[in-house]
Amino acid sequence: KKGLHKLTDLTLIEIKEILAEAESFSRGATWNSEKQRFVANLFFESSTRTKLSFEVAEKKLGLDVLNFSAETSSVQKGESLYDTAKTLESIGADVLVIRHPKDAYFEELKGIQIPIINAGDGCGHHPTQSLLDLLTIQQEYGSLNHLNIVICGDLRHSRVARSNAEILTKFGANVYVSGPQAWMNGYAEQYQYVTMDEAVEIADVMMMLRIQHERHHEESFYKENDYHLQYGLTVSREKRMKANSIILHPAPVNRGVEIATELVECERSRIFKQMKNGVAVRMAVLKKALSYV
Ligand code: CP
Repeated sequence: KKGLHKLTDLTLIEIKEILAEAESFSRGATWNSEKQRFVANLFFESSTRTKLSFEVAEKKLGLDVLNFSAETSSVQKGESLYDTAKTLESIGADVLVIRHPKDAYFEELKGIQIPIINAGDGCGHHPTQSLLDLLTIQQEYGSLNHLNIVICGDLRHSRVARSNAEILTKFGANVYVSGPQAWMNGYAEQYQYVTMDEAVEIADVMMMLRIQHERHHEESFYKENDYHLQYGLTVSREKRMKANSIILHPAPVNRGVEIATELVECERSRIFKQMKNGVAVRMAVLKKALSYV
């Protein structure tokens, strides 16, 4: 039954074990399930990286992937998430990977006996994204202890900001936040607030967040170019970053808004390395989930 709903459900030891396994997969280690195992990826919200990197991870582990599309499934006839998951369990799925727009959708799925891996719930959590962020930072610096990590931008609507901030602190990093006050949502009381000009001077890791337009229900209070100049990682700010400091972004990227387009593939950027690490992390998470079925 043990899946992965939130990173904070795991102990630090479990997180370190997953990261060690992921590191080994990223270096080319292989593992194949001895028995036939079926995994279904249920995505009720759009995705490129998470959905396809789960699929690559599943195929690398020799798992049989059940194709599911919310648009062509009986969800269109009104079938609930619970009944959909129960159906997949009944026909033989061993693990479910689910992305859903509802916060904490997994609370409705307590009657499902197979592991559920959360691929993103509303503004809630995205544990495999947090794990791949941790792996990418660890590969760069060896340890997170005493690193200055600034989480920048749309923290309010981000499903990785809170669990990343909590877990990075537990790993000994100094967490700072930056961005519009309207999107701080209590973060600035818990973590030190810095302006973007201050952030680039102190950061070992600039953790940029996408502006989550699809979750904004109020009218926009900024123009994209103004946002970029005040809160974005501009080309001139990047020049003031510390030697060897790096840039992360979960992607997709709003080029020219939270980050200058020239910086997406610059020397400091680890954005595409994060995506590559996503496969290794998801292999490790799937392998762990399979040990419970
Ligand atoms: N980072 C991330 O979750 O990307 P997708 O929405 O494309 O899966």
